[in-house]
Amino acid sequence: MFSVALDGPAGAGKSTIAKKAAEKLGFIYIDTGAMYRTIGLACIKSGIDLTDAQAVVGMLPSIKLRLAFLDGEQHIFLGDEDVSSLIRTEQVSMAASSVSSIPQVRSFLLELQRGFAKTDNIIMDGRDIGTVVLPDANVKIFLTASPEARARRRTLQLEEKGEKADYEQILSDIIKRDYNDSHRETAPLRPAEDSILVDTTELTLEQSIAKVTEVIGERLK
Ligand code: DC
Repeated sequence: MFSVALDGPAGAGKSTIAKKAAEKLGFIYIDTGAMYRTIGLACIKSGIDLTDAQAVVGMLPSIKLRLAFLDGEQHIFLGDEDVSSLIRTEQVSMAASSVSSIPQVRSFLLELQRGFAKTDNIIMDGRDIGTVVLPDANVKIFLTASPEARARRRTLQLEEKGEKADYEQILSDIIKRDYNDSHRETAPLRPAEDSILVDTTELTLEQSIAKVTEVIGERLK
């Protein structure tokens, strides 16, 4: 099996780029952020205080999380409910960032994540894929862009969907999430030593996809 670890900060375009690159290569794309988001959502639904690690850990045994691939697209289920769209709110983003700093939450998801690399050719995106989840991945890419470029893209995305977008608020959320993700004790966001850095600040989406596909293609030769 061939595995690609794609890590980087929030909003660097990992999921869009990984999805397209996986399509081109015939690989399965696994979005691990969706798993943390689903745990965050489960806590919100149960009214659990996200800063109370003990309460969050207490919830874990009751969380039934499942991935399904419909038309090549990852869908995530919490129990019987497809929550793939519900997890895409700013509230759930912050909840995911919060629960992801709890070591038991990370170990709860680890085996599920590793399982995919055993059975399929995959591109897995996250924060700790190259450093913790798949340390033996065939290719490790660290995808980044400046916080301002990421905030600009997110603002545009929301505006295109006809939603309200406040650039300054989005930028400050991105900076806060970067800080949380890279300063937690367990599996902080950092490039694996053997990762290839791809900075998309000055690249268009098409150029970013081409670059990532090229990097993977070279290792596939
Ligand atoms: O990639 P994303 O924005 O959907 O991730 C949501 C949150 O989950 C993010 O704040 C960091 C966390 N996360 C993580 O800690 N480890 C991963 N492998 C993926 C996501």
